[in-house]
Amino acid sequence: MRALTWQGKRDVRVETMPDPRIEEPTDAIIRITSTGLCGSDLHLYEVLTPFMTPGDILGHEPMGIVEEVGAAVPDLQAGDRVVVPFQIACGNCWMCLTGLPTQCETTQVSAEGMGAALFGYTRLYGAVPGAQAEYLRVPQAQYGPIKVPEGPSDDRFVYLSDVLPTAWQAVEYAGVPRGGSVAVLGLGPIGDMACRVAQVQGAGTVFGVDLVPERLERAKERGVETFDLRSFDDEKELVTAIRDRTDGRGPDAVIDAVGTEAHGGAAARMVQNVSALLPRKLSGPMAERFSVDRLAALHTAIELVRRGGTISVVGVYGGMADPMPMLTLFDKQIQLRMGQANVRRWSDDIIPHLTDEDRLGVDDFATHHVTLEEGPEAYAMFQEKRDGAVKVLMRP
Ligand SMILES: NC(=O)c1ccc[n+]([C@@H]2O[C@H](COP(=O)([O-])OP(=O)(O)OC[C@H]3O[C@@H](n4cnc5c(N)ncnc54)[C@H](O)[C@@H]3O)[C@@H](O)[C@H]2O)c1
Ligand SMILES: [Zn+2]
Ligand SMILES: [Zn+2]
Repeated sequence: MRALTWQGKRDVRVETMPDPRIEEPTDAIIRITSTGLCGSDLHLYEVLTPFMTPGDILGHEPMGIVEEVGAAVPDLQAGDRVVVPFQIACGNCWMCLTGLPTQCETTQVSAEGMGAALFGYTRLYGAVPGAQAEYLRVPQAQYGPIKVPEGPSDDRFVYLSDVLPTAWQAVEYAGVPRGGSVAVLGLGPIGDMACRVAQVQGAGTVFGVDLVPERLERAKERGVETFDLRSFDDEKELVTAIRDRTDGRGPDAVIDAVGTEAHGGAAARMVQNVSALLPRKLSGPMAERFSVDRLAALHTAIELVRRGGTISVVGVYGGMADPMPMLTLFDKQIQLRMGQANVRRWSDDIIPHLTDEDRLGVDDFATHHVTLEEGPEAYAMFQEKRDGAVKVLMRP
């Protein structure tokens, strides 16, 4: 089959790889019809380089048609149309039954001290071959895949794999009071969708912050009050501008949908560049410790949120020893919630919103549809935020 593989920093290529086969009775093989490109893939493209191996197949946002199932997958059969969650979970352990499939005790990557395995996401998450490919082996298929009806195009359902449950959880964790206010930092696909979810969940005012004109425009068109980072001299000015819109207090909740891509200082970038050149044994720990000043967006969130408010961190941060303003967090009595999205915890809540009405605007959410062979160019475009790229779907 053809598959998009990681070959090195900012070097992804489509290669011919062996077709996946059923290896365990709980496996299924899916023929992929649509597969997303995610901000999380950009971390692999550059920052998480030390945890990648050349030839790793990328991607974790697929949907498609079941080709074959193992003997222990009673509810799926060849021909079913399914969306596959980005995390691999059993559905049956203590964590899964608690609603935390991200922490699945069956698939946890304990050798690396990490939670549930993920498709296409470094050896930290199990080095599982990813979904930007023609075919995908889905482990734990007795639980993961979500059956969706025939009829609407893939665009209607594909975001159940990641974007929708991630945005949904971000808003749930933000605990925005009905009619209250929430500021979303970062208007990439995750932040953009979080704004939409906050609106359908009854937030009164949704503020959106970014620095890419098309992304700000997209959010504004859907009723978000937008702030262009480039028009402020510093964080303080931005914080003041949003506070002025909330009786001087700050929003009830802030969602950080930026993560490691934050435009932090040059030092962190340099450390990443250096660490990519080091032998793997040294560079892993170095990347873990030195993501330090890529916390720009999180610091903004802490400043911005009102006293007693909630911060929901959905952006992925890689640093292990980042200094945190603990005094401010404590003094302001802030609630901080974060984590990977627990996909199946929310999917049944989301599906009713994917009806004819398309309340979340998923049908035209993708800005670009490309073939798998065009994938490498799509990575470059998405990373450089060129050509109005917000969400890219590949059709293998
Ligand atoms: N928790 C999860 O399960 C989960 C799932 C998917 C993605 N993510 C993470 O969510 C984050 C966003 O994903 P995405 O696909 O939207 O990525 P993205 O990179 O397209 O979006 C990030 C946006 O933040 C903006 N930005 C950068 N610095 C900023 C700042 N200081 N203030 C405000 N905006 C700033 C960028 O211009 C960009 O539009 C990533 O870190 C990704 O890894 C988490
Ligand atoms: Zn994703
Ligand atoms: Zn489990």
